[in-house]
Amino acid sequence: QEGVFTYDPGYGATGSCESKITFIDGQKGILLYRGYPVEQLAAKSNFMEISYLLLYGELPTKEQLARFDTSIRTHTMLNEGMLRFFTGFRYDAHPMAMLSAVVGSMSAYYHDTMDINNPDAREVFAHRILAKMPTIAAAAYKHTCGQPFVYPRNDLGYCENMLQMFFAVPAEPYEINPVAAEALDLLFILHADHEQNCSTSTVRMAGSSGANPYSAIAAGISALWGPAHGGANEAVLRMLEAIGDVKNIPKFVAKAKDKNDPFRLMGFGHRVYKNFDPRATIIREMCHKVLKQMGRTNSPLFDLALELEQVALKDEYFIEKNLYPNVDFYSGIIYRALGIPTSMFTVMFAIGRTVGWTAHWREMITDPNGRISRPRQLYTGEPTRDYVSIDQR
Ligand code: SDX
Repeated sequence: QEGVFTYDPGYGATGSCESKITFIDGQKGILLYRGYPVEQLAAKSNFMEISYLLLYGELPTKEQLARFDTSIRTHTMLNEGMLRFFTGFRYDAHPMAMLSAVVGSMSAYYHDTMDINNPDAREVFAHRILAKMPTIAAAAYKHTCGQPFVYPRNDLGYCENMLQMFFAVPAEPYEINPVAAEALDLLFILHADHEQNCSTSTVRMAGSSGANPYSAIAAGISALWGPAHGGANEAVLRMLEAIGDVKNIPKFVAKAKDKNDPFRLMGFGHRVYKNFDPRATIIREMCHKVLKQMGRTNSPLFDLALELEQVALKDEYFIEKNLYPNVDFYSGIIYRALGIPTSMFTVMFAIGRTVGWTAHWREMITDPNGRISRPRQLYTGEPTRDYVSIDQR
């Protein structure tokens, strides 16, 4: 068809690219990280091991994993100057705004990882950004609730460290809930990567100009924030709160089907999955477990979510449009059960997705055939015409 661009073998005209990292089959609901089904990884692995897999392409040996884990633990602290950034934000600044700003500022601090052609610099960048994301997120959270920043500890694992940075206070000892740590680990696994989604494509595109990697990740954070993408987990909880009661579900489902109403059922539908999102299935089961083990089985929000899912799955509009719950539909309920505020939900998504963004950035920047991304367009504007002076208009 005239003007419609076909796949461009290089990284260029259509913005398409080749990648070895993640495979999705939207019809069959398949998601593979470096060839491994996400269901197997979620059941048998952990976020640190899967981060290694996504970054390096193979499951690590015990020694490789130990070295990787140690490197991540020793990069969790922030430069004290970066911590002072937070004093400049309003107390009610959105955490995603703070995350994007502070990650972007890392390019002003870490000059030793700016030489993108140096493999050692790329390695330090990858470990540094993966390690510091939870610390920056925790600092943003502490800023919003007016509590003192809690430093990371090298004796704790990735998720345990994040929980204590979020919830520990100087006034009393903090005991890490293993169920909460396990739930976070699973959520980070399921959010780790998802092929060429909006934010990952943004990171690859920004990085393809040779911009420093911290700025590319900051661009990805901004893209993720949108309610059509990672911002959906926050929007799901606000939607459930707006629905309020099971008896109101039909009214909201009708709004979602009304073409004249911009309202959409948040947490439903997907650009690629036209059947179930395998991550939603796994998260729903984890939701049950977390609520039960945290003594919140009578969660009205979860009951409402289950009922909304059942209503939507039986509705002919949603069946015809292939609209199923996606990864964002249940994750917010788990975060809420862990005591994480709604405004932090997309930040949690960003923490998990950082390893995917980083793996894709590195794959793109080391591609020998790599070129700057330059999507083309189909021009539908005015044909050539001559200028008309203002007194003739
Ligand atoms: C993520 O790309 C990724 O991989 C993203 C992600 C990742 O891991 O990175 O998986 C994470 O972003 C998940 C999606 C989270 N967003 C939401 O839950 C927001 C609600 N969902 C919708 O905004 C929507 O489903 C999108 C944005 C996800 C997809 O939008 P599309 O591509 O426009 O949906 P579609 O083409 O499949 O829509 C088909 C039809 C359309 O109607 P028609 O124009 O054919 O008449 O279904 C309608 C849409 O209007 N539709 C919905 C709907 N989603 C699509 N109608 C009501 N409620 C919805 N949620």
